[in-house]
Amino acid sequence: PRTIWLSRHGESMYNLEGKIGGDAGLSPRGLKYAEKLPELVRQSAGYRDLTVWISTLKRTAETSQHLPYKKLQWKALDELDAGVCDGMTYEEIENKFPEDFKARDDNKYEYRYRGGESYRDVVIRLEPIIMELERQENILIVTHQAVLRCIYAYFMNVPQEESPWMSIPLHTLIKLEPKAYGTTVTRIKANI
Ligand code: G3H
Repeated sequence: PRTIWLSRHGESMYNLEGKIGGDAGLSPRGLKYAEKLPELVRQSAGYRDLTVWISTLKRTAETSQHLPYKKLQWKALDELDAGVCDGMTYEEIENKFPEDFKARDDNKYEYRYRGGESYRDVVIRLEPIIMELERQENILIVTHQAVLRCIYAYFMNVPQEESPWMSIPLHTLIKLEPKAYGTTVTRIKANI
């Protein structure tokens, strides 16, 4: 049966510093997750062949580096673009752009970062990805939190407006099995 696996990239140096966006490499803990990931996938997928989709950002390439499958990079899988807030912590954003910080809190789905994107923008740019996913067999997607929230909401049949609040933890492999009556979800946490 057709299966889709989702994983965030391993913890990055920016995650450790509480910064959003950027193109940081993985932290030592994130690199451990990358080492563990082939075993987690094997546990869940057995010897099925699959294709790995990653973004164009370093942290997804590093996370997928040990996976023994064909890999495909998609620009459309890059993280939500935080525009002028790229590289800042939430505290810095709140101090520098208090109105924006509040506007995002009021409507996280529609709020578009200055010079960047909203969740709605991400949902729209993911359309080709979703279409291609519907045509494929077994795909493992290693990408970013905001992007995974939108993909997850789609397969779980949750209204897209709720995607900003989907829980997609680090260092967890999510298995989705779309069925006629709904999608079965299994979450496998890495012990690292
Ligand atoms: O900016 C990208 C983050 O991964 C998403 O976090 O939308 O909850 O701020 P946030």
